[in-house]
Amino acid sequence: MAQHGWVTQTQNPARTADAWWRDAVIYQIYPRSFADADGDGVGDLPGITSRLRHVADLGVDAVWLSPFYTSPMADAGYDVADYRDVDPLFGTLADADALIAEAGRLGLRVIVDLVPNHTSDEHVWFREALAAGPGSPERARYLFRDGRGPDGSEPPNNWRSVFGGPGWTRVTEPDGRPGQWYLHLFDVKQPDLDWTNPQVRAEFLDVLRFWLDRGVAGFRVDVAHGLVKAEGLPDWAGEHGLLDGTVAPMWDQDGVHEIYRTWRQVLDEYPGERVLVAESWAPTPERLADYVRPDEMHTAFNFDFLETHWIAADLRESITRSLAATAAVGAPTTWVLSNHDVVRHPTRLALPQVGRRPNGIKATDPQPDEALGLRRGRAATLLMLALPGSAYLYQGEELGLPEHTTLPDEARQDPTFFRHNGEVAGRDGCRVPLPWAADEPAMGFNKTGATWLPQPESYRRYAVDRQRGVPGSTLEMYRAALRLRKELRLGRGDLSWVDDASDETVSFVTETPGGSVAVVTNLGREPVKAPAGEVLLSSGELEDGQVPTDVTVWVRQ
Ligand code: GLC
Repeated sequence: MAQHGWVTQTQNPARTADAWWRDAVIYQIYPRSFADADGDGVGDLPGITSRLRHVADLGVDAVWLSPFYTSPMADAGYDVADYRDVDPLFGTLADADALIAEAGRLGLRVIVDLVPNHTSDEHVWFREALAAGPGSPERARYLFRDGRGPDGSEPPNNWRSVFGGPGWTRVTEPDGRPGQWYLHLFDVKQPDLDWTNPQVRAEFLDVLRFWLDRGVAGFRVDVAHGLVKAEGLPDWAGEHGLLDGTVAPMWDQDGVHEIYRTWRQVLDEYPGERVLVAESWAPTPERLADYVRPDEMHTAFNFDFLETHWIAADLRESITRSLAATAAVGAPTTWVLSNHDVVRHPTRLALPQVGRRPNGIKATDPQPDEALGLRRGRAATLLMLALPGSAYLYQGEELGLPEHTTLPDEARQDPTFFRHNGEVAGRDGCRVPLPWAADEPAMGFNKTGATWLPQPESYRRYAVDRQRGVPGSTLEMYRAALRLRKELRLGRGDLSWVDDASDETVSFVTETPGGSVAVVTNLGREPVKAPAGEVLLSSGELEDGQVPTDVTVWVRQ
């Protein structure tokens, strides 16, 4: 330890309280693509239940399930038609109960997705709104407005949809004439709710209770930064991008916080520390921290870290700023590298490390170096899992799965692809069904061989049965990391940067109730000396006591 200087002493509030969620590792299950029990090519709840042991064996604390509710599936289930039922594609409410019960037996909590910014256009409320006409209480649950221009044929403002194209669609009134417009920040089939309406607020409090009563451990709140829009829905000349430091009139309005305070009160009525996690693309880490003030949500995804390039100084800065921002409000930071909306991190980290990330990769794009990506992906994972706070894993990352970068256009399903006239690939490449067994139909995803998105041949090499029990495999690296993380209580650590470390490393020491651990990630071209002590784990082979390029090592001191 003598060689280390202490530059930043980050106070980690996770140390002061014992709540499970402060250092939990939570595994995201994307139901369409996890496991398919009925063989129709789309994953389902019984499939998940049958494979939960894999998740428990990894050593995580909880699962988060992306939506499985009744939906016409215009956005893979993020367009909910009934918040209190399961879509037949995924099973039944009884299947959801069975899943929650089996998870409980395996020691896993279950977090479900809540989609409050918009409903499906097939939700009964939206149908009633269309039928009832302008000025009705039914319309007042959504954001209907008259159009601009003499005949109302121009949209009420210039907002765009996140998926591309205009953010407004004009409806035909019950009398057959062209009429009002409704706002949809996402697909045309996802009308935005009006959260100034008390009925909307009451409805979601009830939906929370519905799932809490069924035993869920909490909610991942979809588009948590979107519910409240600026008064008067003003035009917006700025970027519609979300992490660019500015507050746009459709995102991150201060009014959202009052909503989460009321939700928190409901959760606190239930035993067992139920949690709210914000999917909030807030413009800065400090504004993100507002979501996790003591009387609001518990945690929020730290997308700033996810978006940071594979550049040591940038990673150090993101980590420092994120820890400081959440510490200021007494909350832990929540790390994440992959999910169902972004290019899988092993592939992302092999892309040129400049500028904006692409939204998916097409067969005609330059193809990222798979081996380089896997090496960096493993290093990034060991860096993340050593950091204080909680962390989210996305299904398949424990196998080192790359993005599917050569999906044929005919196979694509993401509305992003269609709303950009096929010019933007969209998110299908990270949503491909998992490979469980290299030589079985659909690589073990089901017994029929049907898959809603085709799996690339390369996925056979990554299949669970090729990695389980194989020393050095990515699967075994994740298992070892999660076991050590728990034993050493790394999620409860106090992090200090090592000031005499090479600029091209991320080097810190974390003091935990379980001891002192040095962590080095080498992003430079030259190997660096490993810290003195017992090597606990590394993402690649060390060479003569040196940490090679794109490797992370954990050392007990
Ligand atoms: C969130 C989800 C994404 C979905 C969008 C609209 O960003 O993660 O998958 O398309 O919200 O609900």
